[in-house]
Amino acid sequence: MDVTGFVASTFMRGIHLINIPTTLLAQVDASIGGKNSIDFEGKNLIGTFYQPDLVIIDPTLLSTLPSIEFKNGLAEILKYGLIWDERFFHFIIKNWPKIQKDLNKMENVIKECVKIKLHFVNKDEKDLGIRRILNFGHTIAHAIEDLSNFSIPHGYAVSIGMLVACKISEKILGFEEFLDVKKALEKLGLPTKCEINYNKILKAMQKDKKAWYGKTTMILLEKIGKPKILEVSSNTISKCLKECLEVNK
Ligand SMILES: NC(=O)c1ccc[n+]([C@@H]2O[C@H](COP(=O)([O-])OP(=O)(O)OC[C@H]3O[C@@H](n4cnc5c(N)ncnc54)[C@H](O)[C@@H]3O)[C@@H](O)[C@H]2O)c1
Ligand SMILES: [Zn+2]
Repeated sequence: MDVTGFVASTFMRGIHLINIPTTLLAQVDASIGGKNSIDFEGKNLIGTFYQPDLVIIDPTLLSTLPSIEFKNGLAEILKYGLIWDERFFHFIIKNWPKIQKDLNKMENVIKECVKIKLHFVNKDEKDLGIRRILNFGHTIAHAIEDLSNFSIPHGYAVSIGMLVACKISEKILGFEEFLDVKKALEKLGLPTKCEINYNKILKAMQKDKKAWYGKTTMILLEKIGKPKILEVSSNTISKCLKECLEVNK
């Protein structure tokens, strides 16, 4: 989806674009909002903002999707709950097996995700302010994807990244639901740890767009559904990465 969008935005200085996403992740996230990136010496370092003329989301396309791809999409679905809607988060945790088996229920979940994503995109199309909240867990996730040479897929990396962001939130903002989030991710079969050394993750995070100019801006949570954009020191990130990944061993 990203490559198609990037090509459409640059070929002949831009041609018409219709997105027809076929993965759950693309239906709930990547097809909406006009961000197109390709990986060059770091995740997503070349890209454009280019809105499609039309997005056609057909949940029946998911009937052939492998189960790992459902989990990748699920991580982004949980992200919407964590950053914006505590009830949606708990609803997904409780009902996921039923939702996955029923395309009508899945359609309602996709609609909810698109609604939340559009709320941010409509207010801040170019990612200069509130839209950055959608990057929850992603600075760490991009470092993990990069260091795993993309053997850890995006949703899995986002799952680990969100949990570390919850640990940082616990330290800085007194976030109380770290263990609830960890249990939820485990229950749904999403990863909460990886074998990559935490120092390497920290170093790779410095390459991320959001970490340029020597500061790491992160999306943290005061509580589930209450996000906050804050600058976090390398020291705190390092401690939390270590603590989170080691606690999880
Ligand atoms: N631009 C954005 O706003 C944005 C948002 C989130 C994620 N992303 C990016 O999206 C990328 C992941 O994209 P993706 O999750 O759509 O995966 P993908 O396009 O890599 O597809 C994953 C796999 O599923 C297969 N597949 C796709 N649809 C299928 C179907 N209906 N039935 C059977 N198999 C099917 C594909 O052939 C592929 O093997 C990541 O690189 C991530 O960074 C971008
Ligand atoms: Zn993502």
